[in-house]
Amino acid sequence: MEETKLKELLDSLSWPEKIGQLVQLSGDFFHADQLAVGPQKKLGIDQKIVDQVGSVLNVTGAEKTREIQDRYLKKSRHKIPLLFMADIIYGYRTIFPIPLGLGATWNPALIEEAYEQTAEESKAAGAHVTFAPMVDLVRDARWGRSLESTGEDPVLNSAFAKAMVTGLQKDLLNGGGIASCVKHFAAYGAAEGGREYNTVDMSERRLRQDYLPSYKAAVDAGCQLVMTSFNTYDGMPVTGSKFLLEDILRKEWGFDGVIISDYAAIQELIAHGVATDDREATKLAIEATTDIDMKTPCYAKELEPLIEDGEISTELVDRSVYRVLKLKNDLGLFEDPYRGASQEQEECVFLTEEKRHLAKKVSSESVVLLQNKRDVLPLTPNQEKVLLVGPYGDNQELIGLWAVHGKREDVVTIKKGFEHYLDSEHLLYTQGCDMLEDYTFLGEFGATKDQIEQLGLTDAMKEQELSQALTLAKQADTVVLALGEHTMQSGEAGSRTDITLPKIQQDFLQKIAELNKKTVLIVISGRPLVLTKEVELVDGIVQAWFPGTEGGNALADIIFGQTNPTGRLSMSFPYSVGQLPMYYSEFKTGRPLTSPTHKGRFVSKYLDSQNDPLFSFGYGLSYSKVMYTDLTLSSEQMHETLKVSVKVKNISKRTTTETVQLYVQDVTGSVVRPVKELKAFQKVALDADEEKTVYFDLTKEELKFYTKNMTFDAEPGAFIVFVGPNVKDTQEKSFTLL
Ligand code: GLC
Repeated sequence: MEETKLKELLDSLSWPEKIGQLVQLSGDFFHADQLAVGPQKKLGIDQKIVDQVGSVLNVTGAEKTREIQDRYLKKSRHKIPLLFMADIIYGYRTIFPIPLGLGATWNPALIEEAYEQTAEESKAAGAHVTFAPMVDLVRDARWGRSLESTGEDPVLNSAFAKAMVTGLQKDLLNGGGIASCVKHFAAYGAAEGGREYNTVDMSERRLRQDYLPSYKAAVDAGCQLVMTSFNTYDGMPVTGSKFLLEDILRKEWGFDGVIISDYAAIQELIAHGVATDDREATKLAIEATTDIDMKTPCYAKELEPLIEDGEISTELVDRSVYRVLKLKNDLGLFEDPYRGASQEQEECVFLTEEKRHLAKKVSSESVVLLQNKRDVLPLTPNQEKVLLVGPYGDNQELIGLWAVHGKREDVVTIKKGFEHYLDSEHLLYTQGCDMLEDYTFLGEFGATKDQIEQLGLTDAMKEQELSQALTLAKQADTVVLALGEHTMQSGEAGSRTDITLPKIQQDFLQKIAELNKKTVLIVISGRPLVLTKEVELVDGIVQAWFPGTEGGNALADIIFGQTNPTGRLSMSFPYSVGQLPMYYSEFKTGRPLTSPTHKGRFVSKYLDSQNDPLFSFGYGLSYSKVMYTDLTLSSEQMHETLKVSVKVKNISKRTTTETVQLYVQDVTGSVVRPVKELKAFQKVALDADEEKTVYFDLTKEELKFYTKNMTFDAEPGAFIVFVGPNVKDTQEKSFTLL
């Protein structure tokens, strides 16, 4: 409807009707499933308020959303449609790899396509808004939500943030796609100790330099909503932070879309200790311009009294209500409250062959080959006996914790994938060992005692499985172990201080390794695990993340050489959990460790661990070999731009795609500067023996940073350009910025 009409509608609403638009409740209030990820508590909200709310949390499905919409509109005086918002993070029915795997593709264009397909499925299922992308920068693998991030680097994360928002919102204002709600603003991934929901505190310089760019990229790409994060920044919980929400997001960045709190975050201002009760929490949040209250009674009960007492302005609340009405209007909901959702449409677009094909392609590009001793990989189909073993060998639990609308029965297991390459004579399989030694932690997620007891193997089964595995391993030429962390050991509220493989799996691997067969480890995880022991025990290591619906096929294609692995890490793999948080773009310090073999004491290092990660940012192997030569700068002096070129030659007989990475060091600044910062990357297809010259245009804008006076500027002086296949193995050339 016309904007004037929308303003008339706003003015015609009563205060309860206006405030209702700022309240979001979960499905149980609408006689639907209560698919809420968070603490469950009685809200004490009466039906009158429920009948006025503006949006629904995590109810999807064309039939269910249409039925609720119809029921709701019948009762609505002004026929204002409900907004259906859901967690559709990396796929709706076709599930792609977790975002930490998507980050490892270094292929934003491909991920944009994946998110466009996700939007098509989600729209058919009645979702109007998705709480994605999650673009929190993460540098601590203890944090369970590493799973949802594309990694530790602001440039790479920003490229994916833009791609995901663009893919989700394609043709949005013409009825296409679904609205994107970027989250969690801001810096949620910097929780101290990697402990979920913990304090975040850092300099404004680091916040702006490293943590804000990916949210800014999402806002610049036109995301319609922003979700506030649970954490504090500089002593204030973000949901009540005027500095972050009003000063930076709205005024500095010009975002005038809807800000929604994270789950119960407004009422949690009391637990944080910045509000004594719901009334104070409400005042803090609405004055910070948080528009929608997700799943608490605060706005529903406290906004009207605050207005009546003159403690908050009517204009403030009207502005929030108008943003919500505008979003509904921009999505065309007043004309079509279902936005085209129908069961027929669902059948048309869900899990099509094309989507499965795309999911397999994305999954293939997300897999990172971390080790390949003795060139154990690729295996040759039907040439040798292969034992597939481990709790993930024939397990459909490959879609990760946040694939809340995906179906495990759609998933292709690793064993299923192997069966495309090995006949029954060459493929041996047994589970071999249990996933975990103890499942009681699942009780926190609602699993009953009985359910927990049903999980896992009995002692007798464990014995039998081990003996069977060792017997089959002796018959096999190669043993492929599919091991990893339990899906509930990562994701939200999944922080861990021990991020090695589950002990029961480590012991099993040790027993297999003692047979001295060729061994390949496939790692299923939602985070970088500490694989320091495993690198000594196996020949090949394939990092598969939670690879999604087509994970088994993608992994089989790589293991048997149909696909050349091209994934590159977007997050460092620590040598020890004690190094965390860790990231490649660290500062030099006054006593840098200049050589890993340094013998002196008084330098920045540990007594009991190396400084370097086990596997670096940008690292990954392929079945081919690419040589870098002739790094060339267009000049040794730079004004506005500098052309950088490098030759890359595929010296193998296999086609490959190389991710050429360009880093820069600002040698001296008015404040300390990182040893390296990613500035650009290109994926380059190379046939066997093919050589190409790759060109980059480095700009002065890319050299800007927050200087000593907090101006965003580039300072003249010495710089070094590094180019290579990862952050460590680089060639370098110096130049001067004038
Ligand atoms: C959860 C998560 C957030 C999610 C929201 C709604 O607690 O923090 O990412 O979108 O609640 O489910």
